[in-house]
Amino acid sequence: KILILDFGSQYTQLIARRVREIGVYCEIWAWDHDPAEIAQFAPKGIILSGGPESVTEADSPRAPQAVYDLGVPLLGICYGMQSMAVQLGGKVESEHHREFGYAKVHSTDSCELLDGLITANGELDVWMSHGDRVTALPEGFTGVAATESVPLVGMADDRRKYYGLQFHPEVTHTQRGLELLRRFVVELCGCETLWTPGRIIDDSIERVREQVGDDHVLLGLSGGVDSSVVAALLEKAIGDQLTCVFVDTGLLRYQEGDQVMATMAEHMGVRVIRVNAAERFFKALEGVEDPEDKRKVIGRLFIEVFDEEAGKLEGVKWLAQGTIYPDVIESAGGKTGKAHVIKSHHNVGGLPERMNLKLVEPLRELFKDEVRRIGVELGLPREMVYRHPFPGPGLGVRVLGEVKAEYVELLQKADAIYIEELRRHDLYDRVSQAFAVFLPVKSVGVVGDGRAYDWVVALRAVETIDFMTAHWAQLPYEFLDHVSRRIINELRGISRVVYDISGKPPATIEWE
Ligand code: XMP
Repeated sequence: KILILDFGSQYTQLIARRVREIGVYCEIWAWDHDPAEIAQFAPKGIILSGGPESVTEADSPRAPQAVYDLGVPLLGICYGMQSMAVQLGGKVESEHHREFGYAKVHSTDSCELLDGLITANGELDVWMSHGDRVTALPEGFTGVAATESVPLVGMADDRRKYYGLQFHPEVTHTQRGLELLRRFVVELCGCETLWTPGRIIDDSIERVREQVGDDHVLLGLSGGVDSSVVAALLEKAIGDQLTCVFVDTGLLRYQEGDQVMATMAEHMGVRVIRVNAAERFFKALEGVEDPEDKRKVIGRLFIEVFDEEAGKLEGVKWLAQGTIYPDVIESAGGKTGKAHVIKSHHNVGGLPERMNLKLVEPLRELFKDEVRRIGVELGLPREMVYRHPFPGPGLGVRVLGEVKAEYVELLQKADAIYIEELRRHDLYDRVSQAFAVFLPVKSVGVVGDGRAYDWVVALRAVETIDFMTAHWAQLPYEFLDHVSRRIINELRGISRVVYDISGKPPATIEWE
């Protein structure tokens, strides 16, 4: 296994995902993590991440000495390279201008990490983002890569297997970046590539069995990817000892409640108790207009309904949760420590204490892409596993203002047409998230010979990597035209369709 020490780079999680993709297990720890634990973790190699700070400033972070005492291969990326250079006796200077974006590198000397990947004449496109540069090498190192403007963008000490790169091999913009990382973790660190979906499942099953023994486990099923994968995994691990409670809030997508039952209960053989709570939710939402108030009402009622149902079950000792690795990563910037995060939508109130439940979280070490891959491996339909994200409060925040059953029904149907067409036109997987929004505004239209005065639906589609920023998707006009016609022709009560062309920021992805 590999340890990644985080100096706060936005790419740290990406490094970990790449290493796992190669098939090697790795964890991310903050740079100031307890050195004794680092030794205990006994990684076969360590990667020092990039970071926002400058090593030339006093008090900027450094890796603990333990990292150098372990005698394992090291790879410093960007800030990781610079801090390594300074700690081992080299020199780093600040640049006047930051270099950002593509750069072409060539090899300046041979080394085990880059030989064959970067050559002296063939230039390689790499992704750079830095403001400092190494100007004097520490003892034992040679300069192995350069760009036209920077003579030292790669340094190597083959004897100790210490390497530094000024560019980012983990981003896809860097050519052969994955090969480079594979060279490091497999060939130089000697890690075996055993971290495959099949192996992850087998390991998790074994661990869950060990953890819960013959006890009974309760799981809140939402229809989302994480809880579905937990259900499929637990079904395989402990079968009859698992009971799922699925609260149908009435705020899910078109026919989603039935689909959840068809997939999980019928197809996967999971025991699911479905609670049809739509009427309670609509009642609770009467007269509530403010988005945050709606979220609170929905969240609170969800917990209430779940608790009621769970309270009827006897002999349950464990509560399963779909917590995933990004929720628990210890980050250098946030200093959150290894806070035990419970996802808001799965946060089932005071239940764990009241029923005296212990938590089992089988996805705690997995990234979303790994969760998806094991979901497919476990036999969940691809369509479900690769679904766009859906907010916990569901259509409650996609019907603007007061939520009414009648609005939700129209919205579900409009959304279903939109999604169906996106899939039919091979556009669904090309956008990150797409959905319809119900606007409680009336607009005039002509239907046949008559005049219509009906509601408006907005369509939204965005492209994003992390959902923190997003572009609106430039869907083809003919496609939008087709969807708009279908919605207006097929749905009584909608007279107008508009397309949302706002980016995030300043707009958010959801309308509320
Ligand atoms: P925004 O609208 O904040 O959305 O740009 C970013 C991502 O988060 C989802 N989202 C939510 N998810 N509960 C959730 O579980 C919520 O209240 C919520 N609000 C937004 C949104 O769908 C998008 O993927």
